[in-house]
Amino acid sequence: MKRIVVLASGNGSNFESIVKKTREWKLNIEITALITDNKNAFAVKRAGRLKVPVIILHYGDFVSKDEYNRILLEELKRLSPHLIVLAGYMRILPPFIVNEFRRKIINIHPSLLPAFPGLNAIERAFRAGVKYTGITIHYVDEGVDTGEIIEQRCIRIRGGETLSSLEKRIHRLEHYYYPRVIKDLLTEQSRSDIII
Ligand code: GAR
Repeated sequence: MKRIVVLASGNGSNFESIVKKTREWKLNIEITALITDNKNAFAVKRAGRLKVPVIILHYGDFVSKDEYNRILLEELKRLSPHLIVLAGYMRILPPFIVNEFRRKIINIHPSLLPAFPGLNAIERAFRAGVKYTGITIHYVDEGVDTGEIIEQRCIRIRGGETLSSLEKRIHRLEHYYYPRVIKDLLTEQSRSDIII
């Protein structure tokens, strides 16, 4: 059984789609835990409903960033996941965690990296007036949204598109592709079957 640990800070819709799809596909993959840095994250409620164990490391309860990250590393080592999946995790992992799990941590980002790294990527792309945007799934390195790209999917911004309609379309794309990329990474299949 391959173990996944998901890290999320907020809504958790990607977390939920990963749990549902891996279960629906009856894969040899279990979501061992959701770890969150935010006790108020809606992802925690989703985890309760989905019966996924939750580890809350509420960032504000730690004396420093370093202490928070040291405890996070301990938890991750204890859980010994095959893959750590960042799904709306809004903190930068320090080098000592990235090094420990090199090429075992992936992230999803709502733009076509290297365009629009960092926060509010969908809105910044929309306001920049680009004609195409999309999603990127990548390995996590020490930088901000800079790791090796695993998968990208693009969508055309339509005439009459609003920020809200674009956000919905981006999230649909994320929910479709993130579970499939995870499945392929953990089952070592080629992703040639993925077509838009
Ligand atoms: C997703 O759109 C994800 O791509 C983005 O946060 C959202 C989380 O949604 N991540 C980043 O911007 C990371 N730089 P969710 O909590 O509903 O899965």
